[in-house]
Amino acid sequence: MYETILTRTEGPDSRRVGIITLNRVKQLNALNDQLMDELGSALKAFDADASIGCMILTGSEKAFAAGADIGAMAGYSFADAYNQDFITRNWEQIRSIRKPVIAAVSGFALGGGCELAMMCDFIIAADNAKFGQPEIKLGIIPGAGGTQRLPRAVGKAKAMDMALTGRMMDAVEAERSGLVSRVVPLDKLMDEALGAALMICGHGQTSVMAAKESVNRAFESGLSDGVMFERRLFQSLFATADQKEGMDAFLNKRKPVFVHR
Ligand code: CAA
Repeated sequence: MYETILTRTEGPDSRRVGIITLNRVKQLNALNDQLMDELGSALKAFDADASIGCMILTGSEKAFAAGADIGAMAGYSFADAYNQDFITRNWEQIRSIRKPVIAAVSGFALGGGCELAMMCDFIIAADNAKFGQPEIKLGIIPGAGGTQRLPRAVGKAKAMDMALTGRMMDAVEAERSGLVSRVVPLDKLMDEALGAALMICGHGQTSVMAAKESVNRAFESGLSDGVMFERRLFQSLFATADQKEGMDAFLNKRKPVFVHR
């Protein structure tokens, strides 16, 4: 059904993890229109599937993604780029996904590849991962949120360094800087990501989605508005069966059985 990505699911039938693998391996998963359209469709399909609790987005050992497809855009005029709203037209679909999406990154995550990883909810990196925004070397700047999400993740100093020099950051530096949440040996990457995803699947769906929405709000609002947003969501979760179940299970020293409502 898809030509540039692979999809599969893992986990128990009731709560599965949707796994999307970018699959333009020879081109180091360079991101073209077809891939971004297919990625958007696959994410939306998993998001709408009640048996899916979490998603993982990954690439190949050598490259998560080496950026937007340079061959596809090299000949663009300003009008080409502007009229089709390149690069957001089909790139920001991931932002409308309400269930968590974990990026499992090995190899290069450059340009749009780094930006795509940053659009996910958190990044687990293999020890061979390399992150960068090398667009400056092509005479352009990041166009899918790199100059906005990178400083939010690593602060101004490192974001400026990366955007202006185009240098790469290895996995150790990326973890130290707050860009990735964990670094693991390459051969443990998918186990680690799957373990995290299954843990998320085991929690109540409504509180998981609320937590994602509330953390994301921190990047869109001032502190007072953000805290109020969080408080209202927190209060609303007392209307869920999963809150009753979670607290009853704790008080009775048993494992909760969430019904995801
Ligand atoms: N677009 C199109 N093709 C790409 C590509 C890209 N971003 N990155 C790699 N490829 C292709 C190469 O052209 C090469 O194809 P051929 O075998 O047909 O020659 C193949 O993938 C393998 O790449 P290399 O031979 O270059 O592999 P390497 O190991 O020597 O180098 C690399 C790896 C350092 C990642 C290098 O490929 C590279 O620098 N790639 C470009 C990275 C880049 O500039 N990304 C930013 C793109 S702009 C952008 O993303 C804008 C935005 O903000 C969204």
